[in-house]
Amino acid sequence: MTGTHDQPPAPTSTTGAGGFVVRALSDTSEADWAAATRVDALAFGYVPDADYLDRFLRPQYDLGRFTGVFDPALGDLMVGLGGIQSRSLTFPGRGPSPVAAVTWVAVRPDQQRRGALRHVMTHQLHADGIEPIAVLTASEAGIYGRFGYGLATNRTRREITTPARLRPGTVTDPVLEMPRAEAMPLMRAIHDRVRPVAVGYLDRTDAVWEHLLSEHPFAAAGRPARRFVLHPDGYLSFRVADSFGDGGPDSKLTVGEICAATPAARASLWRHVLSYPLVRTVQVPLAGVDEPLIDLLDDPRALSTAVSDHVWVRLVRLTDAIDRRTYSATARVTVAVTDRFCPWNDGVFALDLDADGGRAHQVDDEPEIRCDIADLGSAFLGGTRIARLATAGRVTGDPAAIGRLDAAMATPLRPFTPEGF
Ligand SMILES: CC(C)(COP(=O)(O)OP(=O)(O)OC[C@H]1O[C@@H](n2cnc3c(N)ncnc32)[C@H](O)[C@@H]1OP(=O)(O)O)[C@@H](O)C(=O)NCCC(=O)NCCS
Repeated sequence: MTGTHDQPPAPTSTTGAGGFVVRALSDTSEADWAAATRVDALAFGYVPDADYLDRFLRPQYDLGRFTGVFDPALGDLMVGLGGIQSRSLTFPGRGPSPVAAVTWVAVRPDQQRRGALRHVMTHQLHADGIEPIAVLTASEAGIYGRFGYGLATNRTRREITTPARLRPGTVTDPVLEMPRAEAMPLMRAIHDRVRPVAVGYLDRTDAVWEHLLSEHPFAAAGRPARRFVLHPDGYLSFRVADSFGDGGPDSKLTVGEICAATPAARASLWRHVLSYPLVRTVQVPLAGVDEPLIDLLDDPRALSTAVSDHVWVRLVRLTDAIDRRTYSATARVTVAVTDRFCPWNDGVFALDLDADGGRAHQVDDEPEIRCDIADLGSAFLGGTRIARLATAGRVTGDPAAIGRLDAAMATPLRPFTPEGF
């Protein structure tokens, strides 16, 4: 049926199911910020440090993009909240484009399962003017699928037994350790070079950089100081915890981030990490699936890898979202999309995808493919293959059409977002 589907309604302060009042917070209200930090601390189980929260988190947000859920029966107590950070994410072939980065989703433990999260999600996704794509990282992987989010990027945790050598013949250059103040502008310049072509990367404001590299005692939590090593085309942040055991030196090096614009920079920074004196274990808590360590190491068995979910993508408005990337092959497919949460996406769409971008419009045609909006979100950055979703029975239909959609949405490298948010 050609579409007259419901369009997103304008956001309002509403009294919803459960008698809750749902409204945007005020960016100038200290009371709203205090209530938000209280709910977040209760939900995540930490003792809030006002100095840290005010200096490193508050400057990142426009509280006008935070949704609060209040219970009049409890004296207008804030029972839950969820925020949106206005960020820019790099899409395949297109480069950076605005996204709603969902953050600070929290409900008081004594008010769980009363529907507060559902209110937050409704307010966010139905609000007028929201970016066509929303992204989030989830505390628990089972929460957001019901709201149309699909698992779009994976993260890996790497551990390497060191010292470990790079493959013979690997080209490397000298690198230099620098103090934070000197390193910061160089790191930002390198990140600015890498980000426009690195699918999944987010832009970083001053406030985001300050937070990511904060050595505030609350964030550092007793860990050794963060240090920085620079190559003209890359940077490394890391910490070393020194240790001596009965068997001799047993230090541990933890990589914060490696960002490299060239293969030589990448190899040079890894060489520094893998040959660091007295270190026996290198841990990399957050690395991309396609970080090519296994291809760089002389002994690939020195490396162990664990994979988990990272960024979830929600195509808020399919017709606007579809052109946020370009496609690896030309394809025209008709897809019956189910979307229980955003009805304007629910219907049969003709997708026209090619190297210049994509177009989606509703049609009367019999669909060749059936899937949920979350499946298109999963595949949107190239991190999940449509063909794999088909083998799981999540994408169904004509195998040839599935093959065309798979080829169009595939990307050379899988996406990676080198931070949580
Ligand atoms: C997760 C959390 C936000 C859920 O809030 P809530 O108000 O209890 O959720 P709701 O009552 O609105 O539930 C909405 C739906 O999500 C489901 N759900 C809630 N918590 C869930 C969880 N932890 N895992 C899986 N599903 C969950 C509910 O069953 C419900 O499903 P249904 O509507 O399909 O029946 C809340 O428990 C919380 O703050 N947890 C600790 C902090 C946290 O993890 N925040 C999320 C950060 S990404």
